[in-house]
Amino acid sequence: MSDASTQQQVVLTCAQPTGKLHLGNYLGAVRNWTRYLDGYECYFGIVDLHAITVPYVPADLRRDTMECIAQYIACGIDPDKANIFVQSHIIGHTELAWILSCLCPLGQLERMTQFKDKSAKARSEDNQAFIGSGLLQYPVLMAADILLYNADIVPVGEDQKQHLELTRDLAQKFNFTYSETFKVPDLFIPKTGARIMSLQNPTKKMSKSDENQTSTLYITDDEKTIRKKIGSAVTDSDSGPGCVRASDDKPGVTNLLGILGVATGKSVEELEKEFAEASYKDFKDAVADAVAKMLAPVREKYEAVVADKKYLTEVIKRGDDAAQKRAFKMLGKVQRKAGFVAR
Ligand code: TYM
Repeated sequence: MSDASTQQQVVLTCAQPTGKLHLGNYLGAVRNWTRYLDGYECYFGIVDLHAITVPYVPADLRRDTMECIAQYIACGIDPDKANIFVQSHIIGHTELAWILSCLCPLGQLERMTQFKDKSAKARSEDNQAFIGSGLLQYPVLMAADILLYNADIVPVGEDQKQHLELTRDLAQKFNFTYSETFKVPDLFIPKTGARIMSLQNPTKKMSKSDENQTSTLYITDDEKTIRKKIGSAVTDSDSGPGCVRASDDKPGVTNLLGILGVATGKSVEELEKEFAEASYKDFKDAVADAVAKMLAPVREKYEAVVADKKYLTEVIKRGDDAAQKRAFKMLGKVQRKAGFVAR
């Protein structure tokens, strides 16, 4: 896909290559990106620079980045219609992040939920835990990812809302301090699937870093694993007619109803009626059937493309080239406005 069509709205979004994508990434994010493939100029990044803000193993990052390209394609991102790029390949993300960090109040970063959660978790495991300043700067880099492409639309899951709000603040602050430069991007959070919860602790969001890996359903899990994980998902101690219903005091059942709803396209109300007489076991079997059916083609496609390193490298080369072209334009403009002498 080229960036010649300047009239089209620009859609940008990204995921971290920190292991396989899970059901939350799929339902809350990547699956919804496909709706922009026609009629929009799409940039879908794999943000490896974000992945190094917590301790990591370089060889895993290299592998996970290549696998993430294959997973995007498996989830329906057509590389002929969207630019799939690797963040560290593009000059401009860290440059713009630095400029934005000089406009970003320290207190605003210290109040970010993700920073507070991740640093508190690391300290609760070891009170001498190393917390890199990159973790604090993370949301500024994310703002740079978005503003470098002057994106109109940023589709994300609900957990990214606060980061998007900071991005909007920084765009406005730059425009006010220098002069009108950035569009203030709109976030798009899907009505359903925006917050898929852990299968074992449904008050926490589903996450790749959950210590209990039965909590997290990966898009490449096989049918047996899907059945096992959903079969052991936390529900409730009640039983009998009416036990399958969404409510605040039934977070596990509510989460499974949400997952089944997105997988089948039915509303939660319809599903509550359909399963009014069902036991938890029957209900979970139905959820597992629907999820297995939804993910089977994703897994097949993933297996078909992941081994083809040459193809994945070509995809990235094309995506990187288009992304870099757009990034250079914006970076040049920003540097001029900020008063840097042209080279
Ligand atoms: P990441 O890699 O954690 O997640 C990628 C996308 O998946 C969504 N998501 C979820 N949606 C529903 N339920 C869940 N349990 C769930 N977990 C994750 C996320 O909201 C996201 O849309 N900071 C970002 C990556 C990023 C980015 C960007 C995104 C860096 N720069 C610029 C958009 C634009 C992150 O860590 O996503």
